[in-house]
Amino acid sequence: PFSFAAIFIEGKRSEMTSILKGILISAPAPGRLEVHAPGYLVLEDGVVQGVYDALPQALASAPITDYGDRLIMQSFADMHLHAPQYPMLGMGMDLPLLDWLNTYTFPTEARFADLDYARRVYRRLATDLITNGTTRVCMFSSLHTEATWILMEELERAGVTGFVGKVNMDRNGLPGILQETTEQSISETLRWLDGCRFDHIKPIITPRFTPSCTDELMAALGRIARDRGLYVQSHLSENRGEIAWVRELHPDCPQYWESYDKFGLWKDHTVMAHCVHSDERERQAIKDHGVVVVHCGDSNVNICSGICPVRRMVNEGLWVTLGSDIAGGAQLPMYKVITMSIRTSKARRVTDEQHPEFLTVAEGYYLGTTSGHKYFGAGEGFAVGDKLHAVVIDDGDFPEAAHPLNVEERFERAIYMTHRHNIVSVWSDGREVVRR
Ligand code: GUN
Ligand code: FE
Repeated sequence: PFSFAAIFIEGKRSEMTSILKGILISAPAPGRLEVHAPGYLVLEDGVVQGVYDALPQALASAPITDYGDRLIMQSFADMHLHAPQYPMLGMGMDLPLLDWLNTYTFPTEARFADLDYARRVYRRLATDLITNGTTRVCMFSSLHTEATWILMEELERAGVTGFVGKVNMDRNGLPGILQETTEQSISETLRWLDGCRFDHIKPIITPRFTPSCTDELMAALGRIARDRGLYVQSHLSENRGEIAWVRELHPDCPQYWESYDKFGLWKDHTVMAHCVHSDERERQAIKDHGVVVVHCGDSNVNICSGICPVRRMVNEGLWVTLGSDIAGGAQLPMYKVITMSIRTSKARRVTDEQHPEFLTVAEGYYLGTTSGHKYFGAGEGFAVGDKLHAVVIDDGDFPEAAHPLNVEERFERAIYMTHRHNIVSVWSDGREVVRR
């Protein structure tokens, strides 16, 4: 916890002016870094007023937090993860998606009927997210209403912001253990929505994926999303067996995405995890409707879903973001997720001669920061008018380099080599929520 020093100065700045000094690095556009070495980040009540190489005269007497030679960078946005899968992190990676869900995932999620257990797991998850610099999330809970409120509470308490969804599933789950009736799923969703009163964590409509939801439920969720002006998140074209199953369930839909479109769930700001096997036509539908792709490279490799053509999607102008997909993905820190997405793009290059490009570090960083933050209405990089979302990285304990490093080289090492202890400060929604 941190509070601003209230200092009254006449004229140009108010008592809430605060200045951060350090090596500033942000990603205002894919592949472009904005560097100020050193620079001054001026905040008013937590809102970015500007970034300067030299401090304006009018601010000469404002209080400065001097981070010295440390890197002040944008914090991360994890656009797809499953909170109730945190207990199975790093376990059960021997099966492909559909068997993996039935064997490991559904029994794990069923445990969240126990609210004491939910509290303990979600408190730990929230702490691990914020101390690793993830300040915005788009997250799946389980189908349990009370446990979902507990999750939202714990994220709010830790300083994490974003969207959480109570999961809907009324078929192909574990009957009696992890499955709702259609009526329950609808009425519990409405009860859950009515009980969401959190400042920084907002609800999002979350049909698990097409095989988990009857047509009647999907139609009801489409209406709820429309009537209440809510965004939607789900999964798309992750695995070939899953895609074939959706074809059987929806013989009238030529492609997977149309099973969402049919019910009003395929719309602007709908978040779709994976899209590994989305072909040209499906990718066009993503682009045309303002749907957001979440690439989850670690998960795709772990459960052998496929190698997503992430760089191709970026080139085609799709809105691509990154997700840890805990616990298909086994790495919560987004700096690890970024390097994994760079690796999967290179794996794709190796296997796809038509497509030799891969993600650079600056591009991966953009996808894990600005591209995700924009989902929540933020601008690009350290944009004027945005509440500050930032991490301060102390790379002083990295191995001594063979030559003096420039800022771009330090940035690359920070993405590849950071550990939690290197993150000495985290700012979320204009508040310093972690300080070491
Ligand atoms: N598709 C439906 N549910 C899930 C899930 O929990 N994880 C992943 N990776 N894919 C899914
Ligand atoms: Fe997922």
